[in-house]
Formats: sequence, C-alpha cells, structure tokens
Amino acid sequence: MKIYKEIEGLQSFVAEQRAAGKRIGFVPTMGALHAGHLSLVARALQSCDLCVVSVFVNPTQFNNPRDLETYPRDLEADACLLEAAGATALFAPEVTTIYPEPDTRVFDVGAVAEVMEGAYRPGHFNGVMQVVSRLFDIVRPDCAFFGEKDFQQIAVIRAMARQIASPVEIIACPIVREEDGLARSSRNLLLTPEGRAAAPSIYRILSESRGWVETLSPQELIARVTEEINAVPTLRVEYFDIVDTDSLQSIHSWVDSPRPHGCITVYCGEVRLIDNIAYH
Ligand code: PAF
Repeated sequence: MKIYKEIEGLQSFVAEQRAAGKRIGFVPTMGALHAGHLSLVARALQSCDLCVVSVFVNPTQFNNPRDLETYPRDLEADACLLEAAGATALFAPEVTTIYPEPDTRVFDVGAVAEVMEGAYRPGHFNGVMQVVSRLFDIVRPDCAFFGEKDFQQIAVIRAMARQIASPVEIIACPIVREEDGLARSSRNLLLTPEGRAAAPSIYRILSESRGWVETLSPQELIARVTEEINAVPTLRVEYFDIVDTDSLQSIHSWVDSPRPHGCITVYCGEVRLIDNIAYH
C-alpha cells in the first residue's frame, strides 16, 4: 500500500492509474478505523479497480473543541488495517495541507442539513462539506463510499455533490454492527466499561420499535423509544426523530412517507453515539 502525506504524490499516483484506465474508489475517514470502515474498503474494491483511503481528522466539522481533542487517533494501526484490507493507497495529510488557509466557504444545501445533526451540531455539516469537497478535488475519484451509520451525512453529501456538479458517484453502504448490535464507531473506543455494556440497548430498543408501527403513531413511538432508552443507566437520548428517507423532514403519520426512517443520538455517559433504523 502506498502512503502519501502530500497532495502532489497522491495526485500523480491517481493520475497514472486513471491514465491506465483504472476506476478509482475513495473512502474518506477520520481514522481510528474499525470493521465498518474496512467494509467500505471491501465495497470499493468490488466496484472499482483500486481504493484510496484518506485519514484526516477534520477540525472544521467539530463544533465541540473537547470532541476534537479526544477524537481517537492511531495512524500506524490504521495503516496496518488498511494494508491487510487490500487498500491501494492511504492519504494522511496534515491540517495545513488540506487547509493552507482558513476555509471560509459556506455551503447551503437547504433543509436536509438543517434538521437533527444540523440543528444539534451547528457548523458540523458545513465542515463536512468543506472537507469532502476538498478531498474530492484532490483525489478526483470515480466513486466515494460512505457508511449509513451517518445517515444524514450521506444525504447532505449527495446534496452538496449535486450543488457543485461533482461527477463523483456517492455510494451508501450498510451499517456494520458489533455482535451485540452496537453500531461500529470510532467513538466506541471512548466508552467506559459501564457505557459499553449499556450501549447495545440503543439498537435493541430501536429494533423492537419496528414492531410498534402497527399500534403507535410516529410521535407515540418516538416517546416510547426515548422513555425506554432513558431508563437504561448511563444512556440519555439527545434526539430521536422519524423522518422521510429522502427529505429528512419529520413525519407526523406513517402515510406521510413511503420510507420512514428513525434517526437517534444518545449520550452514553460523555460519549455521543448515533444510530438509525428503517421503518419500511
Ligand atoms: O464520516 C466521517 O468519518 C467524516 O465525517 C468524513 C466523511 C470522513 C469527513 O471528515
């Protein structure tokens, strides 16, 4: 696997590959890689001839400085995992390489970016759009692969790609879970033993809630899921909403959307976890 810290080296490698007729897959990450990321690499290698992975903890998408400080980082371990997964190249730039000067761009992709994470983490999606658009410009992939754990992020990135007329095809890949159901996340490394034991209740209760659609309205289901999760020690729901899969706007009745989807954020002690579930 080739490792690049600078844009020029990566770009000439990718240009050579493209000239040889290869299709370039791209997996952007913030490192602390786990099975979820490796499933994206596997998926990229299925659809493309090679897979470039970026590891870059993007400061502009953290609305909480403590979250940026404590975000887990281990580039050496990430490189070993990527090598074993068959990734072709790792791009691990410094902050000044991605942002030689402050990125002042403001993206406005409308309502998909304003609800849920957009409302609770002001500036977060603007930072995601800044870095993803910059990475797309640098890597110029044919396809980019994103995990559905960040359900809203995929909708926001698709909207951004349409808005800037990016030719990159955005491919959404299923959530990878631990055996006990907890969605794989780099943040799971930050859980205390007590938090780790409690966290699988999030997906257990979400899964059970699929059986309540026949008898409860969306609002009643939201209230019951919230109540059951909050009853688990160390868990506290920040928000849980049921939205239409495409517009990401709240639904008030099950007939409001052909594809209702539940999106949740839960504090497990100090650690903020997100998950989501389809109700169709
Ligand atoms: O999902 C992530 O890890 C990040 O938001 C991304 C897409 C790599 C941008 O920094």
